[in-house]
Amino acid sequence: MSACHAILSNKLDDPNPSLNRANHYRNTKMRSPTTAETTLPPGAHLEKSVVMVGLMGTGKTSIGRMLAKRLKMDFVDADAEIVAAAGCSIEEIFETHGEPSFRSGERSVIARLLDGPVRIIATGGGAFMDPETREHIAKNAISVWLHADLDTLVKRVSRRGGRPLIKNADPRQVIDELMKIRDPIYAKADIRVETSDDPSNKVTEQVIAALEDYTGLKPLAAPKKTTTRKMDTK
Ligand code: S3P
Repeated sequence: MSACHAILSNKLDDPNPSLNRANHYRNTKMRSPTTAETTLPPGAHLEKSVVMVGLMGTGKTSIGRMLAKRLKMDFVDADAEIVAAAGCSIEEIFETHGEPSFRSGERSVIARLLDGPVRIIATGGGAFMDPETREHIAKNAISVWLHADLDTLVKRVSRRGGRPLIKNADPRQVIDELMKIRDPIYAKADIRVETSDDPSNKVTEQVIAALEDYTGLKPLAAPKKTTTRKMDTK
């Protein structure tokens, strides 16, 4: 039997149920109703998960992870969950079972994550193209589209492999085509943030500001610590 057997079984739905229950309990306690707003840790008052969407190379995982840290929330990467459940890489899933099988696994994993506790969820680039997933996200989460221009994306994707859509293909051509097809769909997300020009920490702050505008909840995060030099007391 192939190492990728789990992609076809319902194990895909929940690779680690006890951990998820623990997270849920922690989040439920953290968001208990009568606590004064000011005593809640930053991010605790977001009532919905935040889902990062966008093309490969836009930084959904790295920005999502930084965002979770700033908002003191849990982070989960949908692709990593699929890999953990299937017991093999995304490339192997595509090769062994084909893209449709990956997409159906992706749909059920994201549905399971959305039905869990409030957290930051990074999705793979194609996830938001699925109408069912999009509807589920619209009902249960806040979607953030991370956008970048073609040159930036080509540069970023060349830094890491493991992406079946650009394996044995010209990344510029594939990404250009995907942009034309997918950008109008990503544009349905609740929030759009440009990621081409700034470093990840700056983009993360822009996502926080956009979330504050969108939800009306401010501040969602504690101010960023700035390193101050000690004064010379001599
Ligand atoms: C895909 C993007 C990948 C991964 C899979 C398919 C896509 O995720 O889910 O290779 O369809 O754009 P990243 O966007 O994290 O690279």
